[in-house]
Amino acid sequence: MKRVDDFRLKFGKKELVPLIIGGMGVDISTAELALEAARLGGIGHISDALIHDVSDRRFDTSFVKGKTKFYKSNIANSDKSSVQFDLGQLAEATKLHVGKTMEAKRGDGMVFVNVMEKLTMNSPRDTLEVRLNSALDAGIDGITLSAGLHLGSFGLMAEHPRFRDAKLGIIVSSVRALQLFLRKTARLNRLPDFVIIEGPLAGGHLGFGMDWAKYDLATIVAEIAAFLKTEQLDIPLVAAGGIFTGTDAVNFLENGAAAVQVATRFTVADECGLPPEDKQEYFKASEADIIVNTISPTGYPMRMLKNSPAIGSGIRPNCESYGYLLDTNGNCAYINAYNAQLVIHPDGKNLSVQDKTCLCTHMRNYNVWTCGSLTYRLKDTTRRLADGSYQGLSAEHIFRDYQFSVDNQLLLPA
Ligand SMILES: Cc1cc2nc3c(=O)[nH]c(=O)nc-3n(C[C@H](O)[C@H](O)[C@H](O)COP(=O)(O)O)c2cc1C
Repeated sequence: MKRVDDFRLKFGKKELVPLIIGGMGVDISTAELALEAARLGGIGHISDALIHDVSDRRFDTSFVKGKTKFYKSNIANSDKSSVQFDLGQLAEATKLHVGKTMEAKRGDGMVFVNVMEKLTMNSPRDTLEVRLNSALDAGIDGITLSAGLHLGSFGLMAEHPRFRDAKLGIIVSSVRALQLFLRKTARLNRLPDFVIIEGPLAGGHLGFGMDWAKYDLATIVAEIAAFLKTEQLDIPLVAAGGIFTGTDAVNFLENGAAAVQVATRFTVADECGLPPEDKQEYFKASEADIIVNTISPTGYPMRMLKNSPAIGSGIRPNCESYGYLLDTNGNCAYINAYNAQLVIHPDGKNLSVQDKTCLCTHMRNYNVWTCGSLTYRLKDTTRRLADGSYQGLSAEHIFRDYQFSVDNQLLLPA
């Protein structure tokens, strides 16, 4: 019977344990979590979502305070088009978060950064260019392009001296998205080093519509593998979404995947950024508590626990401090939903906004309990303590369980 450890993900001469911990913004996949994956010979992700805030918390900078002060006079204004990010500060925050993480890296594995295109930051192209190139400057091993088609992203890095040596890949949920990406980047003569195929059972935003349940990860992996074969392209494929045990992973590794990307199992790791009381909510969840809704202003469906505090919250948009989802014209679907409620309740008190959420503020405050569809099985991965709470797990414990378990077993902590 095979174990994950019987396989290796190969990047040229480098061989890795074929296990990737996916990016989880905002700072849910912390540097500590990513560094553990690298120490153990796999790949971990940090995320650059709300990177100014992450830098303030990690390094005592005051990027957010400075931005809030600068745009204070705009707070009551529903027009947010003037609220721009300072590109120099964006580069500085990226270099701090990425650079300090890379300085701390030990072991044979790698640390990548997850870069979401949907963080449009009121100036999508310029901010994305800075985010990508600053991460390369700061020595990141690789970049995972996510939450968007990223048709221009390789082009934005093409002049960087590390463009051809850093590991660059993309997350897709369909063969069509990959075809578009490859067609767009063909002129650069640089293939992605890996393609992560995220199926409908994943956490975070889904690359499907509300008909996500009609799709199946194994089928999409097979379609993409067949397409690459026809095109005679050799790109490692990484399966993601609903891979809960080592045996689940082996099934993909035996059927064309070069690695698997997982996340939900690590949401309850000691090194994960979620507050301890929120991790208990993840442990406690039953299948009926896990929903997919459309409250994210990005327009993508998102999976979360139905008791997430963000659902129905009517807080004032906080774009002067954050503003990561403002589009090119300074709009965000939450601002519109909030303003519609403000018309009905002009005093602004006890507002409840049901159809959208202020994702920046609520992700920042860990109020969106986004999770994979198998979160309800987390309770089977640990022990219940005398006080009724669930015992936390180290990232190493979870990683090694994936790496060495057989027969769908889950290794309980000592
Ligand atoms: C709490 C949480 C937050 C996530 N945040 C992001 C994110 O910011 N960007 C992203 O590309 N994927 C995100 N994901 C998706 C994961 O990186 C991963 O691909 C997926 O969840 C794997 O499926 P699994 O959770 O069933 O193992 C998130 C997943 C979880 C559980």
